[in-house]
Amino acid sequence: MRAVVLERYGGPEVLTVREIPVPVPGPEEVLIRVHATAVNRADLAQREGRYPPPGKKPRYEVPGLEASGEVEAVGERVTLFQPGDRVMALLPQGGYAEYVAAHERLTMPIPPGMAWEAAGAVPEVFLTAFDALYNQGQARPGSSVLVHAGASGVGSAAIQLAHHGQMRVIATVGSQMKREAARAFGADVVVNYREEPFLPVVKRVTDHRGVDVILDFVGRDYLEANVDALAEDGTLVVIGTLSGGEGRLNLGTVLGRRLRIQGTALRSRPLERKMALVQQFLREGWPLLADGRVKPVIDRTYSLDQVADAHRYLASNQNIGKVVVTV
Ligand SMILES: NC(=O)c1ccc[n+]([C@@H]2O[C@H](COP(=O)([O-])OP(=O)(O)OC[C@H]3O[C@@H](n4cnc5c(N)ncnc54)[C@H](OP(=O)(O)O)[C@@H]3O)[C@@H](O)[C@H]2O)c1
Repeated sequence: MRAVVLERYGGPEVLTVREIPVPVPGPEEVLIRVHATAVNRADLAQREGRYPPPGKKPRYEVPGLEASGEVEAVGERVTLFQPGDRVMALLPQGGYAEYVAAHERLTMPIPPGMAWEAAGAVPEVFLTAFDALYNQGQARPGSSVLVHAGASGVGSAAIQLAHHGQMRVIATVGSQMKREAARAFGADVVVNYREEPFLPVVKRVTDHRGVDVILDFVGRDYLEANVDALAEDGTLVVIGTLSGGEGRLNLGTVLGRRLRIQGTALRSRPLERKMALVQQFLREGWPLLADGRVKPVIDRTYSLDQVADAHRYLASNQNIGKVVVTV
């Protein structure tokens, strides 16, 4: 089969398509004939050699944390799917390929009517956003939520989920176009951080109470302001560290206001916990996708041969929503 194999680490030019064997599904796995996958920030770090896949080094290192496609074959213990089913799956790696094997409990049916491209952009960001909001952040109807990088793949999913979960959403973005997009996703207040700092806006629109939950991807540059933007008993969910992983933290504020700082990483989580999350999402999040209340946001689509350009585009921070790769 054709796949993008990382034979060395470096810039986008190391992403080359070559022929490798079709994976053999394990007893609890489905073999998916991939129609679409999507580029995630983590893929950029993996390409540079800074984010190896969990577990023992695979024979072929193929990036790609999610995929949509048709079930081609099933392992002997698979009960949930059969050949021909339209599915989307969360993957530890391997999505940039014509075929990928996925655990049946990390695989979800594609909502009726959803296109391959859209479905290929669902698993990684919707599971991350759903988990960060409800499990890590313990948000509930009526909570106020600050979503940084509101036009990112994860941000676009988080804003929609929070909006439809009856939460009040404040988002930060880096451009006017992204501001409009974040409003369209359902954010009540959007701050362009290039025009004004977010902390005074958060204070103003919450009557100085602060927000209950922050979904942060930025890390160092926002740490102090994030802690100051939290309401009493609030939770900062650390999902990414785009500006760096070290920062200044006032533990007096954390203590005095009873704050929580909760880190989260999806890919390195034990299989059982990922399976539990996917099953929870199928019950509580998937129905919102099925009836169109929330939608994957697709910015651009590239072919497998153009995947280096897809990486360059994501790295340029211009995307609103997901960058998809069709296979
Ligand atoms: N923990 C997990 O399990 C998990 C899972 C999935 C994703 N993630 C993380 O979530 C984040 C978003 O991923 P994604 O794939 O959705 O990203 P994405 O679509 O590539 O969007 C990232 C956006 O973040 C903003 N940004 C970049 N550098 C920044 C900086 N230094 N300061 C402020 N904003 C910055 C940019 O938007 P602006 O123009 O608005 O600044 C950029 O477009 C990444 O950090 C990723 O690693 C974590």
